[in-house]
Amino acid sequence: MLEVGCGGGAFLHEALKTGCRASAIDHSNDMVRLATQVNSGSIAEGRLKIVAGEADTLPYPDGTFTCAVMTGVLGFLPDALGTFKEISRVLGCRGRFVAYTGSKSTRGTPAAPEPAASRLHFYEDDELEEMARRAGFATAKVEHPSLFEYAEKAGVPQQDLNLFKGTGGSQLLVAYKTRP
Ligand SMILES: C[S@@+](CC[C@H](N)C(=O)[O-])C[C@H]1O[C@@H](n2cnc3c(N)ncnc32)[C@H](O)[C@@H]1O
Repeated sequence: MLEVGCGGGAFLHEALKTGCRASAIDHSNDMVRLATQVNSGSIAEGRLKIVAGEADTLPYPDGTFTCAVMTGVLGFLPDALGTFKEISRVLGCRGRFVAYTGSKSTRGTPAAPEPAASRLHFYEDDELEEMARRAGFATAKVEHPSLFEYAEKAGVPQQDLNLFKGTGGSQLLVAYKTRP
């Protein structure tokens, strides 16, 4: 698995519990340091490598990974299409890619507060699907999963749980290199 924009490494920590091997990249040295601390066990076992770098110039050969994930990163990217093309390039021919992001409806809410929200990129579902197809994915579909159940299970305080109600705020792009 490849994670692009791994931040503090929380997703990696969960994903590695499945026994997979992973690589991760983030352009913040601080985030690379934190993700390295959080996942030191998997790194010591030789199951994880984390490097500093840019999402649109991935330092991996063609066809390296079977799956790729990106959560909460799309909005920050100056060249999202370039990043999608890079992810497509480093995936094998049956590779799959999921990207999670907040929709336009989250702009100005606690999920994407101002003034940061004005600097973020938001996309319509069909823009994301089209971008994935232009990047070389054979199929691409945006889903709108509810995160309420997961937020509750993760112990998000009661007063903040309302943020996770409904499905309009979440966009989960699921794309395959070859039709499944
Ligand atoms: C909101 S955080 C999300 C972190 C993590 N994926 C999560 O869901 O907890 C966005 C992350 O993307 C990284 N990032 C933003 N633009 C990037 C780029 N062009 N290349 C690599 N990493 C980037 C940031 O450094 C930050 O760690």
